[in-house]
Amino acid sequence: MLELREASLAILVGSDVQAKVSALLSLFDGYQDQKVTLDVSRKIDSKDSILPGRPAKPELVLPKLVPKRRMDTPEGRAGLLHSLAHIEFNAMNLALDAIWRFPDMPKEYYEDWLKVAKEEASHFSLVNEHLHALGFSYGDFPAHNSLWEMVERTTDSVIARMALVPRTMEARGLDAVPAIRDRFRQIKETRAVEILEIILNDEIGHVLIGNRWFNFLCVKDNLSPITAYRELAAKYRAPVLKGPFNMAARKRAGFTTEELSLLEA
Ligand SMILES: [Fe+2]
Ligand SMILES: [Fe+2]
Repeated sequence: MLELREASLAILVGSDVQAKVSALLSLFDGYQDQKVTLDVSRKIDSKDSILPGRPAKPELVLPKLVPKRRMDTPEGRAGLLHSLAHIEFNAMNLALDAIWRFPDMPKEYYEDWLKVAKEEASHFSLVNEHLHALGFSYGDFPAHNSLWEMVERTTDSVIARMALVPRTMEARGLDAVPAIRDRFRQIKETRAVEILEIILNDEIGHVLIGNRWFNFLCVKDNLSPITAYRELAAKYRAPVLKGPFNMAARKRAGFTTEELSLLEA
């Protein structure tokens, strides 16, 4: 019988995008049907695997080398969707990484991240199908890897991972997505608008999951969430958060009134 954390690593290592998406969806179903076990205490070694497995393309470049996306050309619009597809691809990878890498968390932690992984796979598919409808594919444009770099920086600590990946990097998505959606709305690209609405709504849930487990670990180690976050952000060189912030979405995603007021300060 498959074990959830071992199987998550195996999917993370795989490099074929479609195979990864379908393996993940069947892992999710298998777990719901109790055909997949969960061993929370197993120490798993990724050996020499290069993580994440990914196709030869897109080429990865520094963020400043990703071309600026113009909304008035088909290539520009496709380039913008492509960067979203790449974020969703890495979001799927980061959820799988949260499952296999960190042992000894409650069962619900792994179940939460399995749900995130499945939703990221569906976001990737939605964006990728729309990209195809416009005549482009994932891999057609260069992409930058800053989301995955924060995952790599936090491989040694589950509290750092929760603080800096879902609560920082994915939370930035809550701030960024409405503006991108509005750019597509202006040019009456209704399918892109619909997809971005789905993503925004699901991402609130992902940040909420990050908050749940970050706060759980703070309580366990008797830490103040505010101080712990500040220290982890400095230690792991997290990007400095810049507004404007989507306060309503952040509130729904579980940030406290105190955390929200610190953001605005
Ligand atoms: Fe997503
Ligand atoms: Fe997400």
